[in-house]
Amino acid sequence: MQKEAVQKQTVQKKKHPILRVLAAILAALVLCVAFSFILSYHALHTSYYSVTSEKLSASFRVVSLADIHGSTFGKENKRLIKRVKDASPDLILLPGDLINKYDEDTSDEEALVRELCKIAPVYISAGNHELEYDREHGFSYDPGSEGDSVLARFEAAGASVLEKSYQDIEVKGQRIRIGGFYGYGIPDEYAESWMRDELPFLKDFQDTEDFTMLLCHMPYTFLVLKGLDRWDFDTVLSGHVHGGQVRFPFFGLLSKYQTGKEDMKFPYWGGLWAPDQGRFPGRLSGVYTSADGERTMVLSRGLGNTDRIPRFNNIPEIVVVDYGPK
Ligand SMILES: [Fe+2]
Repeated sequence: MQKEAVQKQTVQKKKHPILRVLAAILAALVLCVAFSFILSYHALHTSYYSVTSEKLSASFRVVSLADIHGSTFGKENKRLIKRVKDASPDLILLPGDLINKYDEDTSDEEALVRELCKIAPVYISAGNHELEYDREHGFSYDPGSEGDSVLARFEAAGASVLEKSYQDIEVKGQRIRIGGFYGYGIPDEYAESWMRDELPFLKDFQDTEDFTMLLCHMPYTFLVLKGLDRWDFDTVLSGHVHGGQVRFPFFGLLSKYQTGKEDMKFPYWGGLWAPDQGRFPGRLSGVYTSADGERTMVLSRGLGNTDRIPRFNNIPEIVVVDYGPK
């Protein structure tokens, strides 16, 4: 009996260290997951890209802030504003989803626009959330008017709103055509009738010798339908897909939307889900180029989120692009 008791005690003593190690690993995992969630909502990462074009004669810098969705970084967005200021941009671009469609109050976002306008000229194009907000409240955007549309509020705060419109501006002594629209920009051969009303604007927009920069919230055409080969937009800045929300290594390998050689350099990091593309949408951030390397899309992971699928392992991203001559 005594011998049996000693044996049991020995087995129990052997189990304890293993359980302790397992508990420690589990606790570390829980901490890592919690930490990653916190980083994915409150930290800031700045990505730097360089894009060249034969149409450019001088270099300039833009900051793109996509999909803010009403998120704040520091009191009154001071951390975000400082980061943008430190980047010294020539233009600040917000390609959609600055708000959430169910926001009661948009004064924080208007205040952010006012602060950004003190740093550099700000250009905004609509995301689905701005349009859904307006639709829900019975507002519609009328350029230059002081209506209740959320886009008109951003205009009153100092930004230039680009909604199926463009401006020919001068940056560092060269003319650039900057435009924006909400839509897919599906090329003629794929466009269904309901998509066709945006085509006249896009054809008019690209009809210039100047460098063209398009704010287009939705990247689908350029990711999946080779829109960079079919349109003559020199650079497109997009968001919408939030980097695939939940990001893990190897998810990229499961994607059916690898779009070219450039993607294959980084096939491993991929997102869990993206609107229009569903599960495992592939690599959803960075710079994508046309087949001839002449045109680019700069796709941001965005800074905020709606509440459908949480951000995980996906630090809010400020995109800095240095454009320059070839
Ligand atoms: Fe969004």
